[in-house]
Amino acid sequence: MPSLKTNAPSFVKNAKLIAWVADMAALTQPDRIYWCDGSDDEYARLCQQLVDAGTFKKLNPAKRPNSFLACSDPSDVARVEDRTYICCEKKENAGPTNNWMAPVDMRTTLQPLFDGCMKGRTMYVVPFSMGPLGSHISHIGIELTDSAYVVVNQKIMTRMGKAVYDVLGTDGAFVPCIHTVGAPLAAGQADVKWPCNSTKYIVHYPETREIWSYGSGYGGNALLGKKCFALRIASNMGRDQGWLAEHMLILGVTNPQGKKYHVAAAFPSACGKTNFSMLVPPAGFEGWKVTTIGDDIAWIKPHADGKMYAINPEAGYFGVAPGTNFHTNPNCMASLDKNVIFTNVALTDDGDVWWEGMEQDGGGFPAHLIDWQGKDWTPELAKANGVKAAHPNSRFTVAAGNNPALDPEWDNPAGVAIDAFIFGGRRSTTVPLVTESRNWMEGVYMAATMGSETTAAAVGQMGVVRRDPFAMLPFCGYNMSDYFQHWLDMEHKLEEQGHTLPKIFCVNWFRKNDAGKFVWPGYGDNMRVLKWMIDRLEGAAQGVETMFGVAPLFDELTWTGLPFSAEQFNTVTSIDKAAWAEELKLHTAHFEQLSYHLPQALIETKAVLEQRLNA
Ligand code: OXD
Ligand code: MN
Repeated sequence: MPSLKTNAPSFVKNAKLIAWVADMAALTQPDRIYWCDGSDDEYARLCQQLVDAGTFKKLNPAKRPNSFLACSDPSDVARVEDRTYICCEKKENAGPTNNWMAPVDMRTTLQPLFDGCMKGRTMYVVPFSMGPLGSHISHIGIELTDSAYVVVNQKIMTRMGKAVYDVLGTDGAFVPCIHTVGAPLAAGQADVKWPCNSTKYIVHYPETREIWSYGSGYGGNALLGKKCFALRIASNMGRDQGWLAEHMLILGVTNPQGKKYHVAAAFPSACGKTNFSMLVPPAGFEGWKVTTIGDDIAWIKPHADGKMYAINPEAGYFGVAPGTNFHTNPNCMASLDKNVIFTNVALTDDGDVWWEGMEQDGGGFPAHLIDWQGKDWTPELAKANGVKAAHPNSRFTVAAGNNPALDPEWDNPAGVAIDAFIFGGRRSTTVPLVTESRNWMEGVYMAATMGSETTAAAVGQMGVVRRDPFAMLPFCGYNMSDYFQHWLDMEHKLEEQGHTLPKIFCVNWFRKNDAGKFVWPGYGDNMRVLKWMIDRLEGAAQGVETMFGVAPLFDELTWTGLPFSAEQFNTVTSIDKAAWAEELKLHTAHFEQLSYHLPQALIETKAVLEQRLNA
């Protein structure tokens, strides 16, 4: 019998939920259980509690109204992919790209860790909907957590609160997500500002659709609606139920005639998805408008009308701060003017925030800061020892409603019909600026072989190229080759319904010249590429066949306002035969690693590419 009464409020009517909370409380032994209602009052109270505990610093209200800065323990600053597990019954179903342990063994491992892990703390019950409340594409999760920081972040990142219980009713289904920082407090023991544990486990049980997270309070390790639910568990739901859970932004793009298209785009972590989703068209694109539906995750369902409809399961942005400025993302900077939680950025002497990249906004470097680790920072010290004021994976958490470019349809329960998919790796060589796949199969091939140089969003060595198929390497909750097959199957599903499939494009903003410098200006100028895609959708650009899809001719891109020579264009679009011969060898190695259940069609597509290369 549980030792602690759950005291479920009267508006909670789901017996399974109440029983689960009782079981988890019996296991974790919190001092208190608090059922969140998601109200603004509750948010304000918890933020104040975090200020009192020293976890939050309230920022200067004249500079950033109602905003806070949290600085984490230096050991807890990013997702921990090597501690992330997919625990399905059969190892092959997790596949070679996931860490795996049999559920029974993982449960045995976690049991002693969770036993009493919330002693001295409050267990918060956080009800949330991924996607608009009540949408047929949405799903409900309940996160139990002993971190108030997680609760206030979840309030911003999800549709969180009492209304979720109405949708859940007496017997609705939910994904149970349990999270603990793994730092029980003995009687009288003082807490630290950022409790966490050096032992970490981020565990998914796909068959029973459960998430268990131990030891970290940071980002995707702890905000369980995001990567754990909306990608790893949801990709399993999507495979079983015939839909897609993708690491994709969703944007609307409206031309000067008022015709609107919707695009979903996959990029690896920290490759500018938020920037692209909030793109401001440059001078010369008067009358064009880009609006944000989502910046990180898309749930996409084929519909009876033969189209694919996408929703953003999230309600806020948990974006990487460094590099964000008025040049790279003016809409984002405008979004951050109030009601923001910042994590691991630097503090200015007048109580505001700062991160690397902001010096480009005209003010240069501040003379003094407190860095994310609480130490004095000056430009001189930074120059001398290379220390960063903000951690490279420092973040802002902000509600979608703050975004001036928010799409009016962003919360539409029906979703938006997708016209095109974009897959973008991060490659300094080889992959051209943009090509369009000749067919669905070739598009899936492009996505399956995407490569990226590693970033700060995950712990690990920086700058190493790794294959990141569909930008889903750390997020696909089952065997990657089965996931490829699931994508291939979509073509037939939709064709049966008589639909013209969304077009698939492959992009690479990151080609470098011989001097090692980026050639493509990126950011707002990516509009030039986006417009070419729209032209292709409208049949207004002919393009040119290459071995890797159809590429734009120089004259097919709108160059108004950008001095960009045909030679520069060649640097970012050329296909170097020798480099591609090497690249295709790497595709072979990649496919060998994924050989279990690898669709034969991908191998055949590679053979066609090889023939084209050698022709
Ligand atoms: C993210 C990530 O936080 O991809 O979005 O790591
Ligand atoms: Mn992401």
